[in-house]
Amino acid sequence: MTREELKAAAIGMLDRAYCPYSHFPVGAALECADGTVFTGCNIENAAYPVGICAERTAMSKAISEGHRDFVRIVVAGRSEDYCVPCGMCRQFMQEFAPELEVICLNGAGDELALPLKELLPYGFDNTHLNH
Ligand code: THU
Repeated sequence: MTREELKAAAIGMLDRAYCPYSHFPVGAALECADGTVFTGCNIENAAYPVGICAERTAMSKAISEGHRDFVRIVVAGRSEDYCVPCGMCRQFMQEFAPELEVICLNGAGDELALPLKELLPYGFDNTHLNH
């Protein structure tokens, strides 16, 4: 899939978002090393903290289908600002893909592309679990 197609896949997921509380739809498209793409959207809940972000939806779908090798993810929002992943998603994604490229889109479709390492410097990982 080309970069533009991956962006279109993430934007296409905005209509699947379930966000009756925030009214802030997010779509994601995650590309695996073998080219497989998994999409996701945010899914909110009346018990607010139970909701899940689009990025973790996409990566959970991928991992549960046997994929763990990820190259890039597009995160799409409809706001003026680029839709950057929250801290929990940064940590979640780092576990499987510290080298991931994160492509954040605003509502106009402009992109801000950053390595996950820049979004999560000094991230906590399994090397810190030496006790
Ligand atoms: N959200 C995401 O799905 N991904 C992001 O990158 C930022 C935030 C969701 C969580 C919640 O459903 C809504 O956006 C507002 O925070």
